[in-house]
Amino acid sequence: MKTLFVTGGAGFIGSEFIRQAVRRYRIVNYDKLTYAGNLDNLASVADNPNYALVKGDVCDAKAVAAAIPENCDAVVHFAAESHVDRSILSAEEFVLTNVLGTQVMLDVARHRKAKRFLHISTDEVGGDMRPDEWFSEDAPLKPNSPYAASKTAAEHFVRAAARTFGLDIVITRTSNNYGPYQFPEKLLPLAISNAMEDRPIPVYGDGMQVRDWVHVADNCRALLAVLEGGRSGETYHIGGGAPMANIDVLHLLLKILDKPETLLTSVTDRLGHDRRYAVDFRKTTKELGWRPEIPFDKGLRSTVEWYRDNAEWVRRCRSGEYRTYYEHMYGEREATAKRI
Ligand code: NAD
Ligand code: DAU
Repeated sequence: MKTLFVTGGAGFIGSEFIRQAVRRYRIVNYDKLTYAGNLDNLASVADNPNYALVKGDVCDAKAVAAAIPENCDAVVHFAAESHVDRSILSAEEFVLTNVLGTQVMLDVARHRKAKRFLHISTDEVGGDMRPDEWFSEDAPLKPNSPYAASKTAAEHFVRAAARTFGLDIVITRTSNNYGPYQFPEKLLPLAISNAMEDRPIPVYGDGMQVRDWVHVADNCRALLAVLEGGRSGETYHIGGGAPMANIDVLHLLLKILDKPETLLTSVTDRLGHDRRYAVDFRKTTKELGWRPEIPFDKGLRSTVEWYRDNAEWVRRCRSGEYRTYYEHMYGEREATAKRI
């Protein structure tokens, strides 16, 4: 069985990736467990003999080198600060984790002879798209937020490692993910959990910003396809194929929840807010046969169901209780890569 060294696997997308991949791979999940790292997300695999957790920072080269198995089949690098609004409040942590942390991961992957490096990037590196424009893999990068700038810088270091040192890299750029286990600071989980409690839903500016929503399960199927079949040095886009204005998404959500539109509350716009993302993922379909399978209205309904059925998960997120899971479960006998 092949071994993957996954960074940031306790987050929203990384945990879905692990839940899918653990059926076929041994996985070492290396995660700092910041506020976004939630071990509740991985409860279903915690005791799987193919899974191990190592708590650590991607900026800490010694700790990464100690945790990564020699000759592992791939590094799958999710770890990042991921929330745009936080990057506007303070960008420092974004530069450290997203840029320095990526360079550290590239160095260690090379020295420890990892066979492949899958770097998880974002459609935000392309910046605003005009109404008729679609972001293709070879388009120029024009990031507008500190978050997007840090992810763009990271991509450049990944490509540089391929060119300079011959590292086998592949890059994915995904549009907005949604689905179970997303931290309730991002639009959809925030709107779902607020609406369920009849609390206001903040709409930034005029709500006409367009995002292309892809279900996290579809995204992770694409990541596995790129990992296993992507050509070395290439970038692959992943999207949902149906960009929508935020206000239309929220109207649909309120309809599903049978809640009044009066919950929608206009608030000051995000600084530098990108108006439209639209990712062109035809290359991924053509080369790897992947396409999104979950239509947005169906995926949104099942996501709402999940949040309804998992009110305890949301409560633990909001109260901060989820952050005690690590000490509670692992305590002194810290799980290490040695388990597998
Ligand atoms: P997330 O914020 O839910 O999770 C991030 C994870 O990284 C957490 O488990 C956190 O503890 C860990 N982490 C943060 N800093 C770390 C550090 N210094 N060392 C080790 N671990 C650290 O993020 P997400 O939404 O799951 O996104 C995962 C990746 O996908 C990110 O690289 C993000 O830029 C990218 N991405 C996300 C989306 C989206 O819609 N969520 C879309 C495109 C790309
Ligand atoms: O496009 C991919 C990106 O999608 C990822 O790279 C990021 O990691 C991820 O956070 C996400 O970024 P966005 O800024 O698009 O997602 P967010 O959920 O924060 O916001 C989605 C849209 O909704 C955006 O136009 C801002 C708006 N918004 C957001 C929040 C939190 C609101 O109107 N109200 C809100 O309360």
